[in-house]
Amino acid sequence: MDRKPKTREAIYKQMKIFTSSTILNSWLPIVLFFYLFGAASLPQAYSAGDQSKNEHGFSELEIMKGERLFKGLIPFREGTNNCASCHYTKTNEEINWNPSAHDLAVAWSEKDTTYLSGVLGSKNPGLKGHEDIQLTEKEINLIEAYFSELKDKGLEKHKVYPIDLFTFFGTGFLMLLALIDLIFTKKIKIKAIPVFILLVSLAFHIKVISHEAIALGRTEGYAPNQPIKFSHKIHAQDNQIDCNYCHTGVDNSASAGIPSNDLCLNCHTVVRNGKNSGKFEINKIHRAKETGKPVEWIRVHDLPDHVFFSHATHVENGNLDCAECHGEVEEMHIVKQVEDLSMGWCINCHRESEVDFEGNKYYQENFEELHEKLKKQEIDAVTVDMVGGLNCMKCHY
Ligand code: HEC
Ligand code: HEC
Ligand code: HEC
Ligand code: HEC
Ligand code: HEC
Ligand code: HEC
Repeated sequence: MDRKPKTREAIYKQMKIFTSSTILNSWLPIVLFFYLFGAASLPQAYSAGDQSKNEHGFSELEIMKGERLFKGLIPFREGTNNCASCHYTKTNEEINWNPSAHDLAVAWSEKDTTYLSGVLGSKNPGLKGHEDIQLTEKEINLIEAYFSELKDKGLEKHKVYPIDLFTFFGTGFLMLLALIDLIFTKKIKIKAIPVFILLVSLAFHIKVISHEAIALGRTEGYAPNQPIKFSHKIHAQDNQIDCNYCHTGVDNSASAGIPSNDLCLNCHTVVRNGKNSGKFEINKIHRAKETGKPVEWIRVHDLPDHVFFSHATHVENGNLDCAECHGEVEEMHIVKQVEDLSMGWCINCHRESEVDFEGNKYYQENFEELHEKLKKQEIDAVTVDMVGGLNCMKCHY
């Protein structure tokens, strides 16, 4: 092949073709495609043509306006603070004692039509945090429109929205392009660019994936927001209420059990006001009593159906402390799963934990061999695995 040295012009020409053609032919259409596709997937609400009304007689446009007022995207006439700065619209990892937006929507749906104008209108009763609030009838009406939809929808969860999913695959694709360029094509001369794209996309992916693993797998770290802000810290630590007072099953049955509403009322017929939450949260206990609808606590720890686990075995026979498996619950405002509850976790502990062999007639009668070994001091302790704690059938149906 002809290896004649290139002229300066030829090199420039080539470079120019390279930059303009790669950007136009490959990068730009991709960016454009994603941009258009992204715009198309924006919520339908923005096209706002739909005049159909929901069961409470509100149109989509009113609901959308109400939501925007609530979140402060449209200002109130009298310059009132936006509501979402106190009444949060997304689930929380840390406790927030203000009523959530969803709480308010549910309360609204259970009260009569004068409820909101009583709280927010000209007869403002001066609730804590509401001293300056003064909404017009029209604004109150729009807030009601928002609530009428929110009451069934619930708080926004930290999940992958369509747009996030889209960004996820988008950045995945960019990552691939950057990699291909780094390793094969090497067309981008400043190496920092593909490296930067690669790192940012990777960081984004790691964040999304780790967040989803917690939300979907209900594994370690799972800490859902409960329908009432029941705090173990306030009850078990500050007020020294014993775990067994509420979890009555721990000593004698498989399930620890969640206390009924009536048990809460033992105290909360008298204690009507919380230091942090005012009347709002405790009122929910009374509303549940009035409506007969039990409080729907969300399960935190949940083994698959094919696994059998008994609290009595562990707490009563095994003499284990709740904290060994649940962490310091008495310090939590929101209960959080601290162990992964995997098979490996159960088995590791069974390999390490000693059973009270001498004090247990059942073990002595059924494991004579171990009894002999103990006597001859061939072993100095019996651990759970030696008495069948690794036997599949003990844990699996
Ligand atoms: C500065 C914080 C703050 C702001 C801003 C705020 N609120 Fe509140 N709101 C609270 C607190 C705290 C409570 C609970 C008071 C209690 O129960 O003692 C509450 C209670 C409520 C209640 C329930 C009243 C009841 O007793 O049933 C409604 C409804 C409500 N807020 C609506 C709104 C709306 C709508 C806005 C926006 C215009 C708003 N709030 C702005 C702090 C705030
Ligand atoms: C006043 C009653 C009360 C007391 C006392 C109490 N709990 Fe609870 N506990 C509850 C309620 C109600 C729930 C359900 C709501 C929640 O998860 O926060 C619960 C949930 C739990 C859960 C999570 C259950 C699940 O869904 O997986 C654990 C674990 C737990 N409690 C452990 C403890 C321990 C340990 C103590 C003692 C330090 C204790 N509790 C004291 C009422 C109580
Ligand atoms: C043995 C008595 C007792 C029982 C049973 C009990 N509580 Fe309480 N609870 C208290 C006390 C005491 C307080 C603290 C009140 C304060 O803030 O001074 C409290 C506070 C609260 C608060 C307000 C927290 C705050 O700081 O705003 C809520 C909400 C609550 N309890 C819910 C429940 C629920 C739900 C149950 C049933 C699962 C329950 N409680 C069972 C005694 C009890
Ligand atoms: C050996 C580990 C271990 C110990 C010790 C333990 N738990 Fe649990 N706990 C679990 C597991 C595992 C689950 C999930 C059970 C399931 O899904 O079937 C659970 C579930 C729970 C639940 C949810 C409701 C239920 O019954 O499934 C509560 C409440 C609870 N534990 C409270 C307690 C309290 C209170 C203590 C201390 C007295 C305690 N636990 C001690 C492992 C333990
Ligand atoms: C913190 C340590 C620990 C963890 C974690 C643990 N166990 Fe255990 N387990 C024990 C002890 C100690 C005993 C023995 C109790 C006794 O003395 O009878 C036991 C006994 C058992 C038994 C009865 C075994 C027999 O021989 O009769 C079963 C079944 C069991 N565990 C299931 C589980 C399951 C399922 C898990 C996981 C979800 C689990 N355990 C997690 C400590 C643990
Ligand atoms: C000490 C209790 C315990 C013993 C003994 C035990 N398992 Fe498991 N096993 C579990 C738990 C807990 C899970 C659920 C793990 C999860 O959800 O991640 C599980 C899950 C499984 C699964 C489902 C796969 C998975 O990861 O979810 C299989 C299959 C299984 N066990 C087989 C066995 C076999 C075979 C044996 C006997 C060699 C055995 N197990 C002994 C506690 C036990």
